[in-house]
Amino acid sequence: EKGGYDYFMLKEIAEQPKAVADTLLGRIDGSGTLLLDEVRIPPSELREVGKIVIVACGTAFHAGMIAKYAIEHWTRIPCETELASEFRYRDPILDHRTLVIAISQSGETMDTLMALRHAREQGARVLAICNTNGSTIPRESDAVLYTHAGPEVAVASTKAFLTQLVACYLVALYLGQVRGTKWGDEIHSVIQELSAISVQVEQVLGTMEPVRELARSLADKNTVLFLGRHVGFPVALEGALKLKELAYMHAEGFAAGELKHGPIALIEEDLPVVVVVPSPRGRSVLHDKIVSNIQEIRARGARTIVIAEDGDETVVPYADHLIRIPPTPTLLQPLVATVPLQVFACELATARGNEVDQPRNLAKSVTVE
Ligand code: M6R
Repeated sequence: EKGGYDYFMLKEIAEQPKAVADTLLGRIDGSGTLLLDEVRIPPSELREVGKIVIVACGTAFHAGMIAKYAIEHWTRIPCETELASEFRYRDPILDHRTLVIAISQSGETMDTLMALRHAREQGARVLAICNTNGSTIPRESDAVLYTHAGPEVAVASTKAFLTQLVACYLVALYLGQVRGTKWGDEIHSVIQELSAISVQVEQVLGTMEPVRELARSLADKNTVLFLGRHVGFPVALEGALKLKELAYMHAEGFAAGELKHGPIALIEEDLPVVVVVPSPRGRSVLHDKIVSNIQEIRARGARTIVIAEDGDETVVPYADHLIRIPPTPTLLQPLVATVPLQVFACELATARGNEVDQPRNLAKSVTVE
């Protein structure tokens, strides 16, 4: 049932191109228009939405953090992403014009379920993004957009994450489409690029041997840091979470702009630091700032592991290890940038002799608060 792979996680990482394609299937028509009738909230109501709040836990929370960038950019609706376990305890401001999006692979995560119940009690509309048909979270929501990742067995979430991102982009682009924004042309071209993304994920998977080799060489390290900015920041958090749960290593993700506000004090000789570099074509100011960050940490002895777009030559002099990803629109980059981090964590866990599919102390779905 592992399809020839040693672990479910490896199989699920390899299934990502299909999971992404399946999640897009039937949701974009030939002319590049989104068809999301299954989101049974009528367009008239979606036009009235005044605020969006995303609630989720763990990896799904990271997908929600990325969704915030996409939603606010394409729809201009204020959006916040909150850990489901914090949400209802701070008396959040909700009403019938608030759209709450609950993201959950299993559909059974108690923190997320309690958050959505609270939201509905306060009169908010709830849209679930979920991978498990008929599970509790979609049953208790007003609407659901299913991810089509297929069953995810490994405790560490991989293919579900990529499909959660796809679903979030679809929702963001759909809201943009329904409400009409000044980004109409951009929305159209991003929809086209989203259709091509599964091929790019496949490409990344084909180039992972150096990443595995690198992971094995770091098996005796205690700490790995991850840096990113804009949508690369949640990617950094996700890379760190994967490493914590699988390799049992101290791993932390930071927003690169925060470095000089504290974390740079952690940098010491030969400390591995993974840096997710945004596209030089998109928000190029951010790209240049990250390149300066790489120079700064390297000057202090860090071993830099740089994830950068094909053709981005500016990073070459400062990268001890360079991991290439194909060019994508800025907001879609997490779909390709996360994949090497999954492979990295899986290989490190294996090298350290850990149980990859069933990390210690963890359960696949957390059904208590
Ligand atoms: O089933 P859910 O998506 O609601 O689960 C949320 C988290 O428990 C889950 O993503 C967890 O963080 C994973 N083990 C991460 O790999």
